Parts: sequence; structure tokens; C-alpha cells
Amino acid sequence: MNDHGNHTIQLVALQGSVRPGNYTAKALALVAEAVGQQPGAALEIIDPTNLHLPLPGQGASDDARRMQEIVAAADGVILATPEYHGSFSSVMKLVIDNLGFPSKLKGKPVALLGVAAGRIGAIKALEHLRSVASHVGALVLPGPVSVARVRTVFDKDGRVLDEDTAALIRGVPGKLLEYVNRHVCPRLELEAMVRK
Ligand SMILES: Cc1cc2nc3c(=O)[nH]c(=O)nc-3n(C[C@H](O)[C@H](O)[C@H](O)COP(=O)(O)O)c2cc1C
Repeated sequence: MNDHGNHTIQLVALQGSVRPGNYTAKALALVAEAVGQQPGAALEIIDPTNLHLPLPGQGASDDARRMQEIVAAADGVILATPEYHGSFSSVMKLVIDNLGFPSKLKGKPVALLGVAAGRIGAIKALEHLRSVASHVGALVLPGPVSVARVRTVFDKDGRVLDEDTAALIRGVPGKLLEYVNRHVCPRLELEAMVRK
């Protein structure tokens, strides 16, 4: 139960890495932990590793359609990407390309999280991702979280080695939930009142 009645705020995180042992998933595990501590909020992580997502223009798959339904029903979305070759991953682009045209991200509040092995972090990945997400109509929230030297933040088993950075990652859903509570829930309440 949240501050605004019975509606559970449903968040979806789209994971932009399918690399075995990827650090994007380790960061998302902290996000899930943080959402788990928020009453009235739930998170579903979409890991594309075992999904059949066609290349753009090759039609929609059942997995793509299911992913579209999940995103369409979500109150907020977290895009979590690794930095690959100075941008966000092609996996993340494939996920976005499989969200429809027009995109199911249209009008959705979106928070961005990027992780990188390098010392400059995922700044380029996040800037490019912000641009694409805005292009498809998402309401991209300010304050993307960029994690530098991610392999010093977690060990290979996902245990936290750097508590300060972990706290930053855990803060990602909080900003999104605050936005949804302030700007989306009042509309949902109004709609529910009208239906009564
Ligand atoms: C194809 C590829 C390109 C990469 N390019 C960069 C890069 O430009 N900058 C960087 O800091 N790390 C780069 N990395 C390292 C990733 O940031 C690193 O693997 C990190 O753990 C995040 O990715 P992951 O979620 O797949 O683990 C690259 C990794 C791959 C596989």
C-alpha cells in the first residue's frame, strides 16, 4: 500500500547486458533490494539473455510482445546499460527497438543507470541513452547514475566492495518512485474517483 491508495507502483528495469556474469545485473540487484524496501512498490527486471528479440525490421516475437505489455503496464522504467565502446550497449538498443514503433516507452518516466569498467564511467553511454529515450517520447528524469570502475564496486559474486557507490545505485528507484508518486499517482486517483 502506498500513500495514494491501493495502487502498487510497478517499476520495470530493462537490463542492457547479456554477458555471463555481467555487472549491470549486479547493479540491478541493488536496485531490486532498494525497491523491496519500499512499501507499495514492485520491480520486475527484464533480462534479455534468454529472450528472442528480433533484429529491427524482422517482425515482432512473442517475447517482444510480452516485453511490450510489461513496459506498457509499468508506472516507471529503469534503463540499465553497460558502457560499450563509448556508448550504451547494442543489447539495450535492441531492447528499445523491440518496444514498438511508436514506443511503449512513450510518456513513461524513465531513470537511467550506467556501469563501466573504465575510470570515466558510463557518461557517454548515458548521454546517448538519454537522447534515444527522449526521442521515443520517454520522460527521462534528471540525475542519471554513472558507475565508474564497476569491477571495484562488486566482486565476481555480486558482493558490494564499495558502499558509497552501492548507496548511489540503491538511490536510483527512489527518484523514480518520487516522481511517480508526485505526478502519476494523483492522475490515477482522479481516474479512480471518476469511475466510482
Ligand atoms: C564490447 C565491449 C565494449 C566495451 N567498451 C567499454 C568502454 O568503452 N568503456 C568502458 O569503461 N568499458 C567498456 N567495456 C567494459 C564494460 O564496461 C565492462 O564489461 C563492465 O563490466 C560493464 O559491462 P557488463 O554489464 O557487461 O559487465 C566494454 C566491454 C565490452 C564487452
